Amino acid sequence: MIVNTGAQIDHDCEVGDFAHLAPGSVLCGGVRIGSLALIGAGACVAPHISVGVASVVGVGAAVVDLVPDGVTVVGVPARPLFASETRERVDDAPASRRRVRTIEARE
Ligand SMILES: CC(C)(COP(=O)(O)OP(=O)(O)OC[C@H]1O[C@@H](n2cnc3c(N)ncnc32)[C@H](O)[C@@H]1OP(=O)(O)O)[C@@H](O)C(=O)NCCC(=O)NCCS
Repeated sequence: MIVNTGAQIDHDCEVGDFAHLAPGSVLCGGVRIGSLALIGAGACVAPHISVGVASVVGVGAAVVDLVPDGVTVVGVPARPLFASETRERVDDAPASRRRVRTIEARE
């Protein structure tokens, strides 16, 4: 695990192997971060939310709902952008209309 300057981890969090918490990122209580995930600089993950394996949370995002494995999310509140490995866009809608809870990771 990499914990950069100013990253904060509150109580009862679980962080997987090789996950990366960028500068100023915040994990509220009870958060679970999958292995290889990146929590971008200044991003915040709300209490008891899970971020999947190899998922990416963009700079400044506010994660308030589950992030499936392998999905990149951005924004406030965070919405899916694309699957991490394929970079296939989740849909053609503006980022502001996408919701985390409706999207499954793509192979
Ligand atoms: C989310 C992220 C991975 C996307 O990077 P990318 O794959 O290069 O994507 P792009 O720069 O091509 O951006 C794709 C779209 O997402 C938007 N976007 C990218 N990052 C965003 C963010 N953090 N918040 C909101 N929108 C974002 C872009 O504006 C672009 O929108 P458009 O298609 O409507 O023009 C990257 O912006 C990011 O936040 N990385 C984390 C960096 C970090 O904290 N590193 C740790 C350093 S120690």
